[in-house]
Amino acid sequence: MSQEIKDRFKQFVAPTYGRFPITLDRGECAYVWDTDGKRYLDLGGGIAVNCLGHAHPEISQTLAEQSSRLMHCTNFYHFDGQAQLAENLAKRLGQGRVFFCNSGAESSEVMLKLSRRFGQAEGRFEVITAENSFHGRTMAGISATGQAKVKDGFSPLLQGFSHVPFNDLDAIRSALTPATVAVMIEGVQGESGIRPASPDYLLGLRNLCDKHNLLLLWDGVQCGHFRTGSFQSFQTILGDRGGDFLPDAVGMAKSLGGGFPMGAVWIAEKHANVLGPGTHGSTFGGNPLACAVGNKILEIVDRDGLAENAVQIGQHLVDRLTEIQQKHPTAIQEIRGIGLMIGIEMGSDIASFDDAKPASVQWVSALHEAGMLTIPAGQSVVRFLPALNLTQDEADEGLQLFEQTIEKLTA
Ligand SMILES: Cc1ncc(COP(=O)(O)O)c(C=O)c1O
Repeated sequence: MSQEIKDRFKQFVAPTYGRFPITLDRGECAYVWDTDGKRYLDLGGGIAVNCLGHAHPEISQTLAEQSSRLMHCTNFYHFDGQAQLAENLAKRLGQGRVFFCNSGAESSEVMLKLSRRFGQAEGRFEVITAENSFHGRTMAGISATGQAKVKDGFSPLLQGFSHVPFNDLDAIRSALTPATVAVMIEGVQGESGIRPASPDYLLGLRNLCDKHNLLLLWDGVQCGHFRTGSFQSFQTILGDRGGDFLPDAVGMAKSLGGGFPMGAVWIAEKHANVLGPGTHGSTFGGNPLACAVGNKILEIVDRDGLAENAVQIGQHLVDRLTEIQQKHPTAIQEIRGIGLMIGIEMGSDIASFDDAKPASVQWVSALHEAGMLTIPAGQSVVRFLPALNLTQDEADEGLQLFEQTIEKLTA
């Protein structure tokens, strides 16, 4: 069965992804099962998407009910769910408006179009982003992304992007030109292995943007939606120092739909008319199914205290990982964690590893064998991006499988 599916993939599915040899069949809470019946503890969360785990009964019920009521509503018309979700998101940020789209890359696209229109009259269009950032795979997304590998073979890219070291305000100052219109960052760089912005950087960036009339564009696709313990990661990072700190726009996707594809951008009220009627659109953006799920997820996160759970379980994981690191200092080189966004810098000096393949991928494969899903990043990082409702018992099971795998590979 599994081999048949893989063969069909090989023949018919575009080969853009390096897929692991796992064929999944179903999921329930923190677990998924493959077509051979093997169970895996899912600490990867589908790359920070499955915020309520798999097959959450209230989400399934919400989808079933909404699908028998209204499945699609073109954006020519109004419907309650979209208005409710926009209000629900805006009240967690500040006065502003929400544009709905279908993915993280599309949310980047919206923010970049916003900046183009914002600077149009003055001929400003340049956007500064961070080295090692990731903003999606559209042409604008790869142009904005500060990683050469995503751009390879796609020139000419969109004009007007420069990439500077992350967490370095002077680097931004030096990159400013008369045409600069915006700075776009992730609060916690995800694809490059979980690297949070510092509070001073964020506060300095806000001042700099205000001083030069630049938009501060916030990519919260991976680090948003309570993953760090607050709705958006700047709220976690700044804590009491946040005051009235707000970006000019916040991009969201991934956990926003908990597995149902959706994206959104909150735009601060003062820029609400920059993208006016006819300037942007999406057939499926803010679809009734997506909005029903988005609203239900927010209700469950609030009701079940899942932001607090992300902080508690995240801290537990980091504490226990630190103990494992003390026992295995060459296997675990660094742990970077903020809530349930954890990056573990792994050693690559493992006898059975193939030098031609990234160590991150080989660690993740070994963890698959042990019965656990995690997400690789770059050459050597293993990421934990699990559901926000992960229990301590499930976390402990993951830690045990992780430690056993390290012991096996370093024996
Ligand atoms: C920070 C960030 N922005 C944008 C994206 C792109 O999102 P999507 O794959 O939904 O287009 C990702 C995806 O990993 C991401 O991590």
